[in-house]
Amino acid sequence: MLIDIITIFPEVVRPYFSESILKRARDKGKLQVRVHNLRDYTLDKHKKVDDRPFGGGPGMVLSPEPIFRAVEKIGLRVKGSPFAIQQQNNGKASGDRKGLRQKKRKTKIILLSPKGKKLDQKMALGLSSQEHLILICGHYEGVDERVRKYLVDEEVSIGDYVLTGGELAAMVLSDCLARLIPGVLGHDESNKSESFCAGLLEYPQYTRPASFRGKNVPKILLSGNHQEILTWRKEEAVKITKKRRPDLLK
Ligand code: ADE
Repeated sequence: MLIDIITIFPEVVRPYFSESILKRARDKGKLQVRVHNLRDYTLDKHKKVDDRPFGGGPGMVLSPEPIFRAVEKIGLRVKGSPFAIQQQNNGKASGDRKGLRQKKRKTKIILLSPKGKKLDQKMALGLSSQEHLILICGHYEGVDERVRKYLVDEEVSIGDYVLTGGELAAMVLSDCLARLIPGVLGHDESNKSESFCAGLLEYPQYTRPASFRGKNVPKILLSGNHQEILTWRKEEAVKITKKRRPDLLK
């Protein structure tokens, strides 16, 4: 999977992908992440990315020009994207995304914003088969509506709260997708236990020591009886889900 992230804070985003599982995924060639500075796609010498809202009101709105330019430039280099150079087009970008919207395209353009559809595991599973994502991090009071209307395929929110920008949301979404790519997690066990308790909160986990400050690990986990351990875990998963997230059981 290739993820292109467009942001005005590239230095906030980049380090996240240089550690731990995401770094390994990149090293193994399972995940490619490119972080682009939106200011590099501005046309004026001050590299201005925003402006005051028409009609008045507080704050600034991200302008359409640099965002369109960034997406077009990034897409141009990716085969199968709506902006890819069409050979029959004499090397010119097709520029027409409309006809391509109907077909399953390789590239999906996502705007991270609190107005988007709320991210959940089902949405993540759907997106994880996408070959190429362009993530646009929203900012300030918002993004010019023409970006939503004419450029973006989907708008995604990571929850019912407002962040100062879409950077954390882009990292959350990328992280969530990366671990679904086959071969990214150390062992497939993690995903297996997720499907075993699909739709439930996870059962409690313990590690050594078996007794810590007088608090003991449940005996069943030390029994070596895998069938009984499985049953116990399922029961615990149902119990905690009932208590904390009854909505998931419906
Ligand atoms: N930008 C600001 N708040 C956000 C949220 N909850 N999800 C995605 N992007 C955001």
